[in-house]
Amino acid sequence: MGTRATPERSQTADGSAHPSGDDRFRYLDAAMKRHRYRPDALIEVLHTAQELFGYLEPDLLRYVARGLRLPPSRVFGVATFYHLFTFTPRGEHTCTVCTGTACYVKGADALLGVVEQITGTHPGMTTADSRISLETARCVGACGLAPIVVFDGKVVGQMTPEQLAERVKGWLDHGT
Ligand code: FES
Repeated sequence: MGTRATPERSQTADGSAHPSGDDRFRYLDAAMKRHRYRPDALIEVLHTAQELFGYLEPDLLRYVARGLRLPPSRVFGVATFYHLFTFTPRGEHTCTVCTGTACYVKGADALLGVVEQITGTHPGMTTADSRISLETARCVGACGLAPIVVFDGKVVGQMTPEQLAERVKGWLDHGT
């Protein structure tokens, strides 16, 4: 196997400015370089990209694909498989429904359905008015209080569909 060629835009990893003028690409390039542009570092690199940019837009995914010499379809496939990644800018509020086993058994699916119905969004998406981002989590470590919903980072247990609907409608109607 031949030596892996340096990706097109990796010259920015040496500290020079990215053509877009966006400094965050320099850090993203540095992360890819640190992983030696290994395709198996994809998830770590996607994490870094999300931390830097807040969410993974299609151009950013294509940029990572180019850097790691992976087909864009593979990068899109991996990014959408994991619930850790988000593809639109975050809304004012974030509602995370835990869909881990304990929460699932206690009705997480119904809870998720309530938020989807009220907001018209799906996990990983944000409402058109940028009010609410909907996320899911595998387990937030509070299984004893299942089902769990996290509102703007605050963990709330034993959630009922009615309480959830009230909270989400409040965010949509008054922003609180
Ligand atoms: S499964 Fe939901 S908190 Fe553990």
